[in-house]
Amino acid sequence: MKVYKVKDYQELSRKAANIIAAQVIMKPDCVLGLATGSSPVGTYDNLTAMYEKGDLDFSSVTTVNLDEYKGLDASNDQSYRYFMNTHLFNRVNIPMERTFVPDGTETDSEKACSAYNEILHSVGTVDLQLLGLGHDGHIGFNEPADYFPDETHCVDLTEVTIQANKRFFQSEADVPRQAYTMGIGTIMRAKMVLVVVSGADKADILNQVITGPVTPQVPASILQFHPNAVIIADEAALSKTDL
Ligand code: GLP
Repeated sequence: MKVYKVKDYQELSRKAANIIAAQVIMKPDCVLGLATGSSPVGTYDNLTAMYEKGDLDFSSVTTVNLDEYKGLDASNDQSYRYFMNTHLFNRVNIPMERTFVPDGTETDSEKACSAYNEILHSVGTVDLQLLGLGHDGHIGFNEPADYFPDETHCVDLTEVTIQANKRFFQSEADVPRQAYTMGIGTIMRAKMVLVVVSGADKADILNQVITGPVTPQVPASILQFHPNAVIIADEAALSKTDL
């Protein structure tokens, strides 16, 4: 794993956007794996600015998102489809039909997951997968578990995640208890993985991810074995890690 230490969230967002932009410029028809959460928002803002300046063209790009809450549809402002449309897809020239997010409206979990796996197989290997890091070490919605799930599956969100994500909802009761997420196997098969981590509240878990044992109890620790994983983290997030 390569770790880039940056000063703050602004620098993190610029650096991550530059790496993604380089990918799009070098391979205009690339497949980008995208993430939600507060960590990549600044990255998407920077990518949008590059597009507006005329420096970036998304017309041949395909995107696959990591996850979606089960039960939320695109019109729900807490759904990850809504998030992606708002923060990136509606702001750049990506063809909407080339953007994929698991279908939160499908109540049959097996159907939803196999449909998303089919999409993932048909778009091919992800060239660059962007990731945030959950407070319990989750990536996508791959929560701490006894094993590393390979492909898309339905997960029960942990209490830590429900608590962390309730800030976006009107009340804790509104936070969905389940989600569909891309598996760890799919993430590990991406040619490059780019993780963005910001803030002192992530310092403990980030230290475990970088220096701790590889264990499904800390799902992101598997990235130690990825041949091309890059972590961009700010000083606060790296405050507990000796580099
Ligand atoms: C959510 C998402 C993850 C994200 C994580 C961290 O649970 N499913 O993909 O990485 O939270 O979010 P944040 O960046 O807001 O800390």
